[in-house]
Amino acid sequence: MPIGIIGGTGFAEVMADEARETELVETRHGIVEVQVGQLGQVDVAFIPRHGPAGNIPPHAVNYQAHIEALDMLGCRRIIATNAVGSLLDDLTPGCLALPNQFLDFTDGRPRTLFDRPGDEIVNVDVTAPYCPELRKLLAREAEKLGLACRKGLTYVCTEGPRFETPAEIRMFAALGGHLVGMTGVPEVVFARELGLCYASVCIVTNLAAGLSENPLTADEVNAVMDEVRPRLWELLTAVAGAIDTEASCNYCSPA
Ligand code: HPA
Repeated sequence: MPIGIIGGTGFAEVMADEARETELVETRHGIVEVQVGQLGQVDVAFIPRHGPAGNIPPHAVNYQAHIEALDMLGCRRIIATNAVGSLLDDLTPGCLALPNQFLDFTDGRPRTLFDRPGDEIVNVDVTAPYCPELRKLLAREAEKLGLACRKGLTYVCTEGPRFETPAEIRMFAALGGHLVGMTGVPEVVFARELGLCYASVCIVTNLAAGLSENPLTADEVNAVMDEVRPRLWELLTAVAGAIDTEASCNYCSPA
C-alpha cells in the first residue's frame, strides 16, 4: 500500500464508502481501524482521523498509532487533510492551502513515537516538516484542476477543542501564522520520525476568530467541508495517480 490518506473533519464517510475492506492494525501505541481501498488506480490506506464515527476530538486522537499503522502497511507517502481557520483576509472559506511550516501550540500531546522504555532518543530534523516533493505535486495537480491553492503558509496548531480568542489569533498572526487548526501536530512530526513523506492539504472553513463578524461554529466548518469535499477528493485522486510509487523521495528518504 504505497499511499496513506489521513482524512480530517468530514472525511470518515466518503472513506468508508470508497473502501474495499477494513483492516485492524495493531501498533506499539494501539489498534487502528484502517480502510483499504483505491484512489483511481492506486491502492491506498485511509484513516479517518476522528475515528470511523467522526467523534474523537482533536486532543484525543491517537496520532502515534495512526502514523505507525500506515508505516506498518508500507505507506511511504501520507497526504493529510486538515480543516483550518484563516488568519489572512484574502484567504477565504472554500480555499485550499499547503503549509510548509508549523507553530506548535499544542499542550499535553505525545511528543515522539519513541517514548517506550528502552527506546532510542530521537531528535528529528523538521527544517522542512512537510515533504517538498509531495507539496510540489499537490500544487501542480491543484493548478491542473483549476483549484485555487495557496502555498508556503505557516500552520498554527492549537490544543482545542475550543476555538481561539481573537487575542490569541492576533498573537499567532504577529508570530507569522497564517492558518490555525487543531490536528496538524504532532501528526506531521511522527511521519518525519519514521522517514515518511507527509503533506497536508488544508481546507479553509472560516476566517479565524475576530476576523469575521460572526462567532465560529462547528456547523459552519462542516458546511464548507461538505462543499469542498468533492473537489478535494478529485485532487487526492489526481495526486495519488501522479506519485511515482517506485521512486524514493530525495528529501524524506534519500537513496
Ligand atoms: N481554529 C481552529 N481549528 C479550526 C478552525 C479554527 O478557526 N477552523 C477549522 N478548524
